[in-house]
Amino acid sequence: MASENYASNGVATAPLTSVNQALNFGRDYSRLKNYYETWSADYDNDVSEENYCGPSMLADLFDSLHRAPRERQSLRIMDACCGTGLVGKELMLRGFAPVDGCDLSPAMTHLAHKTQAYARLYGGVDLTEHNPLIADNQYDATFCCGAFIQGHLPIEAIHELMRITTQGGVILFSTRCSFYQDEHFDKFLDKLTASAQLCALPSFMNAAYLNDVQAHYLAFAVNK
Ligand SMILES: C[S@@+](CC[C@H](N)C(=O)[O-])C[C@H]1O[C@@H](n2cnc3c(N)ncnc32)[C@H](O)[C@@H]1O
Repeated sequence: MASENYASNGVATAPLTSVNQALNFGRDYSRLKNYYETWSADYDNDVSEENYCGPSMLADLFDSLHRAPRERQSLRIMDACCGTGLVGKELMLRGFAPVDGCDLSPAMTHLAHKTQAYARLYGGVDLTEHNPLIADNQYDATFCCGAFIQGHLPIEAIHELMRITTQGGVILFSTRCSFYQDEHFDKFLDKLTASAQLCALPSFMNAAYLNDVQAHYLAFAVNK
């Protein structure tokens, strides 16, 4: 769903696509949840029209960490902000066992369930809070794709991703380059690496994400 959007002076602004509209809820999670509840049915088509490649890029990054193929079936993986399950589908294609997932929007996790790429799914989970449903130190790898963007997760949500990841496990996430810069994400991550709570692993910087939008794909080992 794409349409041109013009300001009153006739100058073209960012097109008012569903993808762009999702950025405009200012972290009002009640309104953002309602938005995704409605958008869920069209989400996969709409992001595909914009050549969204976040899930495959993040899976490529995970592959680059040289996991032996036989390890894939035994790894415990959480797909945080799983949406309709694009990351789970990507991992299933690459030989990983079903993963767990969580998301703010139950309609999105309902669609993720249909992919059969997920073992356990938690809908209605706000990752800006501590979620007692998801225990500490459970996951060898915690993915978070497409959610460190304007109006969605604040950078501090990294702590919730770290909490549920095992000692020595890995967190992997995408972040739009503009968000990374505006939120000073680099400084936040530098502090966590300086205090040895995170250890930087290979990353893909300034890489493809959506048409005309680039992202960084980052991976860190978690040290508790
Ligand atoms: C752009 S979608 C990305 C979905 C999926 N990971 C993908 O790559 O297609 C962003 C997702 O983040 C979820 N989300 C936004 N804010 C959240 C929050 N505070 N806690 C948990 N999930 C959130 C939304 O419900 C939505 O499913």
